[in-house]
Amino acid sequence: MEYRLVTEGSTTFETPVQDENTLFPPGTAQVFYNARMEFNRDMTVLLLVQLRPGLYLDAMAATGVRGLRVAHETGVSVVINDHDPVAAAMITANAKTVGGSIRVTCDDANRLMCGERFDAIDLDPFGTPVPFLDAAARSAKRYLFVTATDTAPLCGAHLKAGIRRYFATPRNTEYHAEVGLRMMMGASARELVKYDRGMEPMLSFAKNHYFRSHVRVLGRVSAADATMDQIGFVMQCKNCLYRAEQKGSLLPAPHSCPCCGAETEPIGPMWMGPLQDKAILASLLETLPSMQFGTAKQMHKLLRQLLAEPETCSFYDYHVIAKNLRVSPPAMDEMLAGLNDIGCSAVRTHFAVTGIKTTAPLHAVEDWIRCWNEKRNLR
Ligand SMILES: C[S@@+](CC[C@H](N)C(=O)[O-])C[C@H]1O[C@@H](n2cnc3c(N)ncnc32)[C@H](O)[C@@H]1O
Ligand SMILES: [Zn+2]
Repeated sequence: MEYRLVTEGSTTFETPVQDENTLFPPGTAQVFYNARMEFNRDMTVLLLVQLRPGLYLDAMAATGVRGLRVAHETGVSVVINDHDPVAAAMITANAKTVGGSIRVTCDDANRLMCGERFDAIDLDPFGTPVPFLDAAARSAKRYLFVTATDTAPLCGAHLKAGIRRYFATPRNTEYHAEVGLRMMMGASARELVKYDRGMEPMLSFAKNHYFRSHVRVLGRVSAADATMDQIGFVMQCKNCLYRAEQKGSLLPAPHSCPCCGAETEPIGPMWMGPLQDKAILASLLETLPSMQFGTAKQMHKLLRQLLAEPETCSFYDYHVIAKNLRVSPPAMDEMLAGLNDIGCSAVRTHFAVTGIKTTAPLHAVEDWIRCWNEKRNLR
């Protein structure tokens, strides 16, 4: 295999050379490496600088880049694993040059997690993390980090696959990116609560083709009960943009939409609790300038956005609202300022370019957009 040296953060490691004419990912090389995931890895390294866990497991590591970076850039002890012997050989070679407290294993991730406990576990599979969540929920002592790249099932584009994998119904709405993230987190929550354990999200986001969550794991029955209380549904009107949040794991009965009278349908069950620990986000923003990250600018932008987002479980696409009203969409900043002026918190959301997260009810946003159009027509 041909190798190429790559640097991410302050860590330099070998990656396989890809055939540049092949669509990527997963590419042609025997061992997987996706440079576009640098942002995802940067975020985890930043968080781990703060958390400083005892032993971190990179359960499916490919080149080992994630675990290598954690060892080198945070000083945390790591276990780096891949079931593929070619990948494990590459990780071993990389571990020698990078240095730090690193143990390399070549095992099935589930078998490894069933036989040993780790302070922090990171799941970064091809596609869905579901086959690994049960073992991870038992093995992780304090932290569980999960990536999912099966966005089509999670967002409702492949509805049946989503229902089978996540035991939840996503639906394809304009806020499908948030539903996808919350469905993935709901799957983690369900695996934890069955072992009387609970979770508290610290840093969660959707980006490009993946979802990522970092949660604190709590080993108490009371935490498991509190986690169950955060499972629920968004009841979405089949006809208009109205939706309501309903917590509880039992499928709610459809009700009539108060805006148009049509029936609502449930999206979920999914995680309806907070996505972030805002105190942690604030301290990550403070630490960020002292670190060496290739994606620092983007990280700063996302952390600022996540910090500002109110904890609603869905968002509006204001272009869709304007289109439904058959009027023009106002400029985003003007509309956000206008909604804030009338006492409703309203901000951009990282989930979508034309998405807004707001505590305002749908009719208030519609009224504001209608009013803005009327005033504009008078000018
Ligand atoms: C998406 S890649 C990991 C990427 C890597 N974490 C990174 O940041 O570049 C998924 C890896 O999981 C490995 N894998 C798949 N199933 C596994 C299993 N059951 N146990 C351990 N490793 C597995 C594959 O060999 C592959 O290298
Ligand atoms: Zn309706």
